[in-house]
Amino acid sequence: MQETRRESVIRLRGAPQTFKYAVDGGPAMQPCILVIFGATGDLAKRKLLPALYKLHERGMPSVTRIIAVGRRPLDDAAIRRDLAEFITDKKEWEAFSQRITYHQLEFDDKAAYDRLRERLETYDKSLAARRVFYLATAPESFATISRNLSAASIASRRPQRGWHRVIFEKPFGHDLATAKALNKVISKIFSEQQIYRIDHYLGKELVQNILVLRFTNSIFEHLWHKEYIDNVQIIVGERVGVGSRGGYYDNAGALRDMVQNHLMQLIALTTMELPKRMEADSIRTAKVKVLKRIVREPPAKIRKHLILGQYTEGMIDGKPCPAYRDEQGIPKKSTTETFAALKLFINDERWRGVPFYLRTGKALHHQYAEIVVTFKQAPCRLFCGPDGTLAPNRLIIRIQPDEGVKVTFNIKEELADMSAIPVSMDFSHKAEFGINSQEAYERLLADVMRGDQTLFTRWDEVQEQWRIVDHLRKVKVPLERYAAGSHGPAAALRMIKKDGRDWSGNIPIK
Ligand SMILES: NC(=O)c1ccc[n+]([C@@H]2O[C@H](COP(=O)([O-])OP(=O)(O)OC[C@H]3O[C@@H](n4cnc5c(N)ncnc54)[C@H](OP(=O)(O)O)[C@@H]3O)[C@@H](O)[C@H]2O)c1
Repeated sequence: MQETRRESVIRLRGAPQTFKYAVDGGPAMQPCILVIFGATGDLAKRKLLPALYKLHERGMPSVTRIIAVGRRPLDDAAIRRDLAEFITDKKEWEAFSQRITYHQLEFDDKAAYDRLRERLETYDKSLAARRVFYLATAPESFATISRNLSAASIASRRPQRGWHRVIFEKPFGHDLATAKALNKVISKIFSEQQIYRIDHYLGKELVQNILVLRFTNSIFEHLWHKEYIDNVQIIVGERVGVGSRGGYYDNAGALRDMVQNHLMQLIALTTMELPKRMEADSIRTAKVKVLKRIVREPPAKIRKHLILGQYTEGMIDGKPCPAYRDEQGIPKKSTTETFAALKLFINDERWRGVPFYLRTGKALHHQYAEIVVTFKQAPCRLFCGPDGTLAPNRLIIRIQPDEGVKVTFNIKEELADMSAIPVSMDFSHKAEFGINSQEAYERLLADVMRGDQTLFTRWDEVQEQWRIVDHLRKVKVPLERYAAGSHGPAAALRMIKKDGRDWSGNIPIK
């Protein structure tokens, strides 16, 4: 299969240098051996292998090999059979599956790592010198696996040939203290340039688009400022409940599971200044800078600005959903939040005084993620709508499910006497580029094989994100209840209504 390489050149205002930004395929993926720890797990089966299969279809180097690591007594044929179930279109499956072999290994069995090294040594030398380790396991195993990889001379900070890269799944730590402890261990083994911390939201097409949308369009870029923006909302709703992941989720909750990573990344991309260059470290430095300016409010204010909730029994899509406390693996008296809504401020020149409203939760009415930027009212007071009010302009960046961008504006209502009503212009990613856009894990895995860290979180970002969430979590706030399938706790609506605003995404929240 031919490798696709299409590059476009974007020139940013204020950034005189020209840089290349890969739009499709990008710099070639380098041939390597990808070792997946936790290959029999849910993430590997549902996301990683299907993403690798797509990359195979798109032209992953034909010599690249995948070693699926698991503790079960399987052989190559058995793991291939298990994984095949998760591939829908199997046209290329036979060819792809030949890349996969199985290696049995308990994470703490040192001898099994020696066998893994011996196995790696059986491959062509230059291929075996390029290694990616994907730790698709619970975070408690990250340190053990990293130490054992190093002790068995499988992974090294300075390999004699080729390169070694390691991918850590989210969550990276349980709070700032555990994240620091983990980072201390892994940074003795790997350099920051070798570490790829996953936040799969960064692999989503419309999330990558935020910077291009902001910085290449003067109709937005000039107005991206407290003078013109009234408020920004970041809304991520999940329709599913906790399902079979109760054991993990009950120790996490919405603040750790969603706000610390995905929502913080979305807020950073929405608010950061123009990076000096379009490369990983400049972008990540700009994100850290703005994360550091997120205001740590005193407890009394946090109690007003933070709403936590937990779902009770309800109906989703016409099907009954049990209360969170009745889900598998959840203690009957659990106080873990499955919903969080909060208001934040950023103390810098661009954003001082602009409220950022964030909300996320499980077992909600809709499955969607979007960023809503509401602009201030135009100064002209001569026009209004039929109800006496004038709708503000809005920019809605839809991240999922239907990726796109919507802009709302006012026009004269037909046949009415200069009455202004809101209408919208809608860009649909699917309609413009077709349905074949890359899945997040596809993009992220390809980037690791290219050696591009842009869409991975650097340690100082993770650190700031935990600082913000730990600060919020220190304050005890009442746990509100909401019925599964509803729009979340009424308190979240009251919080924003007190400011004279509404949750203003595509889906009305009542
Ligand atoms: N699933 C998702 O959609 C998702 C999404 C985002 C992030 N994550 C994160 O990704 C990580 C993995 O999630 P998951 O849902 O795939 O978990 P999972 O289904 O429990 O898979 C864990 C994997 O680790 C293996 N394992 C556990 N202990 C082991 C040991 N001592 N020695 C060898 N293998 C061992 C398991 O083997 P067995 O199969 O033999 O038990 C399985 O392959 C978690 O940190 C999770 O939070 C998951």
